[in-house]
Order: sequence, then C-alpha cells, then structure tokens
Amino acid sequence: MNVGIDQIGFYTPNYYLDLRDLAYARHEDPNKYLIGIGQERQAVPPASQDAVTMAANAATQVVTAENRNQISLIIFGTESGVDNSKSGAIYLQQLLGLKREARAFEIKQACYGATAGLQLAKDFVAAHPDRVALVVGSDVARYGLNTPGEVTQGCGAIAMTVSAQPRTLAISPNSSVYSDDIMDFWRPINHTEALVDGHYSNDIYQQFFQKTIQAYCAEQRVSLTDFRALTFHLPYSKLGLKALRTILPEVDESQQQQWLTEFEASRVYNRQVGNLYTGSLYLSLLSLLDHSQELTSGDQIGLFSYGSGAQGEFFAGTLQADFQNYNRRDQIEAALENRQRLDVYQYEEFFTKWPTFKTANVTIDPALDDAEFVFTGVIDNKRQYRRR
Ligand code: COA
Repeated sequence: MNVGIDQIGFYTPNYYLDLRDLAYARHEDPNKYLIGIGQERQAVPPASQDAVTMAANAATQVVTAENRNQISLIIFGTESGVDNSKSGAIYLQQLLGLKREARAFEIKQACYGATAGLQLAKDFVAAHPDRVALVVGSDVARYGLNTPGEVTQGCGAIAMTVSAQPRTLAISPNSSVYSDDIMDFWRPINHTEALVDGHYSNDIYQQFFQKTIQAYCAEQRVSLTDFRALTFHLPYSKLGLKALRTILPEVDESQQQQWLTEFEASRVYNRQVGNLYTGSLYLSLLSLLDHSQELTSGDQIGLFSYGSGAQGEFFAGTLQADFQNYNRRDQIEAALENRQRLDVYQYEEFFTKWPTFKTANVTIDPALDDAEFVFTGVIDNKRQYRRR
C-alpha cells in the first residue's frame, strides 16, 4: 500500500523585507545575505497573523468536500505555539469546521515537529487506510533585531493531507533517525526570541545529515544514486547546500550536477520567504516539485529533516502521477509576487509590535491583512480568531 502526502498547501503573510535593504541598514555587504546566507527576501508577519492563523490559511487549501469527513487526525507541528497548554490543532479544527470525531494535538521538537507529525500520520493511515490525516507545520521565526540570526527569520505554514491514495509523494515505510542532547538553538519559556549558537548548529546539522543518510542507505540497502534529488530543512538556503556538498564527492560528476540543479529548484520559494521552522523542509519540497525540469513520476527523492536540540531524520519519497500541480504553483507565485515590501523602519515596527505571549488583552485591527483567517486580539486572556 502507498501512503503519503496527497496535497500540500502553503501560506505566508503579505509583507516582506528585502534583504538588500536589511544589509545596508546593518552595514553588511548584500552578497553576504544573498550568496553567503542564500536568502533574498524575508516574510514579515503583521500583528493579525500567528502560528494558528497561518496554519488555517494553509490548511484551507487542502481540506476539500471529498476529504473533510475522512480527516480524523489533526497534528500541529510548531515551536512558536500560542498557548502553553491548549494545542493549535484544536483551534485549527474549529476554524476549519473539521469534524469533532478526531484526535487533535500539537507536537514540539524545534523544526522537526511537522516531520514527527507526518511520520505518525503515515503509520496511522497505514493502519486505517480509509482515513485521512491533516499535518501542519506553522511558525514565526524570530531571532531579534540586530542579531546574527536576524537575516534567517521568516514565517509561514505548510499543510499536508496524508492518505492511502497520495497524489503527490508516497513516503518510504522506513527512515533513519538520530537524536542527541545538543544546545545549538533553544527558546526558554520566558523568551519571545530564539537563542542560537549558529555556527555550532550548522556543524551539528551537517553531522546529523551524514549520519542519517548513510544509515538509511545501509539499512534500506539503497545507493545514493537511487535519489534523483535531495531536499533539506532550510532555515536558510545555504545550509542545505553545505550539507549537499558534503556528499558530492561520493557520486560521479553527472550525478553531482543533477543534484545541484535540483537543489536550485528546491530553494526558489525558501529564498523568497525565509525560515518557516517546521514548514521549511516541506516548502523546499514544494519548490522542487514546482520548479524541477527533470523529475518524473516514480522518481525517488531524499528528505532530510532537522530540529535543533537535536533530532535528525532521513527518509525517502516516491513522486506520484499528479505531483505537478500548475494551479498550486501559479497561486504561490502570485501570492509571493503580490506581497508588499516593507522598508527597514516599517519592518522594525512590525517586529516590535507583533503580539508575543507577553501581550495582555488587546484588540488587533486586521484591516491591512488580506488573509482569510486572522487573529483579532485577546479578551480575558483568550485569543480571538476570525474567518473572513
Ligand atoms: N559575499 C559572499 N559571501 C559572504 C560575504 C560576501 N560579501 N560575506 C560573508 N559571506 C559568507 C561567509 O563566508 C559565510 O559562508 P560559509 O558559511 O559558507 O562560510 C556566510 O556568508 C555567513 O557568514 P558568517 O560570517 O558565518 O555569518 P554570521 O556569523 O553572521 O552567522 C549564521 C551566520 C547563519 C550562523 C547566523 O545567521 C545564524 O546563527 N542563523 C541562525 C541559524 C539557525 O537558525 N540554526 C538553527 C536551525 S538549523
């Protein structure tokens, strides 16, 4: 039985910061950001978007009249959740009007949460092939103004339906995992921005990639050359390239060229959006599906997921007959193109005013936000959401 990703939805807010502008403001050479970091633009959330609303705006694209009644598992992967107790999945269920006969919960392990959800969903659907699972990864990546991590911020959400008739990507039954207690990136309970040892994190990421891809090939008795493309968790796109470069010497020149070409396809969207934390690997997958010139159904691709702290996982996917979806691509390209550019002053104001958990009761005016689902404020310590 094939189990895997049926449809993928993506949402990012309608504001961005051009990283050339940020470079000038921070007295850096723009090429450090464009080439050295591998990012061009960064999505900036208005006060009316948070992890819940972005998840709903992505999930509404994949919940249909046909699958609505089959969805009985809702998993919300995030590391920027809105409540220390109640899960984002319950808000999502309510906002989308999903049926109540469902398991709905949130998963946290830094940027790994959506992969944990996808793997759980795969096993659930394998055991119950008539059901569908909804898995989302939704986050606002905040490192702080004038920090080294500032250039690797961003925000957005990915939503995936997982089914026994996947039209996009069948997921391998097995994967290789590796975890260890690593202080490379964390966010204490009372912090609104992440703490990160960036260079250390880069090293651990590459080590976990090598460990898990090598273990996968050995355990599943496959060769590196079986993968037509490799996709990566991309907190910033240069990091995936660094990991890819570590294994290039193990294949011949034509395979190297093919992987490098597919890697470029896999970072087109990420370069425009920035870091989605949990959704980053799956935005990169979408980017590959929408921009590759060579891939065809039946091709195997490798996926490397990483969540600081740290958890790594490598698994494989087989492209299904309908993996190319031109409507989806046109919608994403239009959404990215139609965003409003903020100057650095406006971005800093958006950043400072974005309601963190420290915000008490407040009213948010969503007038400047074009999204279907918006956050409208906090009343009696209860977050208020609206569908328009
Ligand atoms: N033109 C081209 N490249 C340039 C450049 C220029 N003018 N100036 C610098 N660079 C390159 C550097 O050589 C370096 O490339 P390399 O990594 O291949 O060696 C890159 O730009 C970054 O420069 P660096 O000096 O290392 O930047 P930094 O000290 O400001 O830190 C990060 C960069 C990525 C470590 C930092 O932004 C960070 O910590 N981000 C968060 C990372 C994260 O989230 N990790 C956890 C999740 S996995």
